[in-house]
Amino acid sequence: MARVLSGIQPSGAMHIGNYFGAIKNFVIEQGQADAFYCVVDLHALTQNVEPEILASNTLDLMAIYLASGLNPDVCTLFLQSHVVEHTQLAWLLECTASMGELRRMTQFKDKGGDQEGTRVGLFTYPVLMAADILLYDVDRVPVGDDQRQHLELTRDLAQRFNHRFGEMFVIPEATIPAVGARVMDLQEPTRKMSKSVSSPLGTINMLDEPSEIERKIKKAVTDTDGEVRYDTAVKPGLATLLSIFAACEGVAPTIIAERYERYGDLKRDAAAALIEELRPIQQRYREYRDDPVALKAMMELGAAKARAVASQTYRRAADAVGLVAP
Ligand code: AMP
Ligand code: TRP
Repeated sequence: MARVLSGIQPSGAMHIGNYFGAIKNFVIEQGQADAFYCVVDLHALTQNVEPEILASNTLDLMAIYLASGLNPDVCTLFLQSHVVEHTQLAWLLECTASMGELRRMTQFKDKGGDQEGTRVGLFTYPVLMAADILLYDVDRVPVGDDQRQHLELTRDLAQRFNHRFGEMFVIPEATIPAVGARVMDLQEPTRKMSKSVSSPLGTINMLDEPSEIERKIKKAVTDTDGEVRYDTAVKPGLATLLSIFAACEGVAPTIIAERYERYGDLKRDAAAALIEELRPIQQRYREYRDDPVALKAMMELGAAKARAVASQTYRRAADAVGLVAP
């Protein structure tokens, strides 16, 4: 059976980009593969975050995973920092990675890049991500489009390691969804929806109230030519709405476009579809989030399952580079 792994940072409210680009596919994959999903809390430390906020964001995201349909009896759900081998393998990989290849990462550049005050953790972040993946002999990594380059780096690091120290790691592939891989901001549709954008109207969070979702879609930027057509270059605002609607229905955006003549009708139905898509998740979320004892017990079981795999891979890699076993 193929193995998949993915992770999301607990760095604030999950938006529908995270949902359609990642979480929705995690749920599909858990039924088809041996799936590992983590909350990558160590990655969230690359930003300056208050300790109690990080802790509560972590439980929020675990509850979102469960509410979205990830089932700990079917997949392995865990917290990255509970499995120490992630940082241990990251070190081995850092000792094979070059400054040049990490400097080329566009996310690093977007987040400020190579400056005197830049955190070293932000620079080495993709190597920790590579360790997350390579520890589990993963075939596929379901992620949104923005992670493509990090996956390429992971493959490069794995190939280099294998070449130098003998066949060690499975070379993973990114699986990027056909629709929803890149959900754009509703106010600035040429930029991807993200947690860090200042326009709150442009981002729909998974836990937004239905009235809030309606309002944001109603106010979404479109254009004045009045023709419903899927064209990301010429009509990026409309294309964003069509993609969101399409991701809810599981069809191509062009199919949705054919059904409509007026922007207003499209917006109304897109909002309704999205509200329906998120409703069951929102209903279940509170239940999981309000029981931190159960969440922690679940994470403990997940970590034990993850550790059983990770510790073996790590030992194999450590032996290969010449670290003497205890
Ligand atoms: P992040 O919030 O950056 O940790 O991303 C978590 C997951 O959501 C990753 O797999 C991203 O590729 C995906 N993701 C983030 N933003 C978007 C977006 N606007 N559209 C599609 N996928 C996204
Ligand atoms: N870097 C990813 C992001 O920002 C999160 C991540 C960390 C990840 N480790 C991973 C994704 C392992 C997939 C697999 O979204």
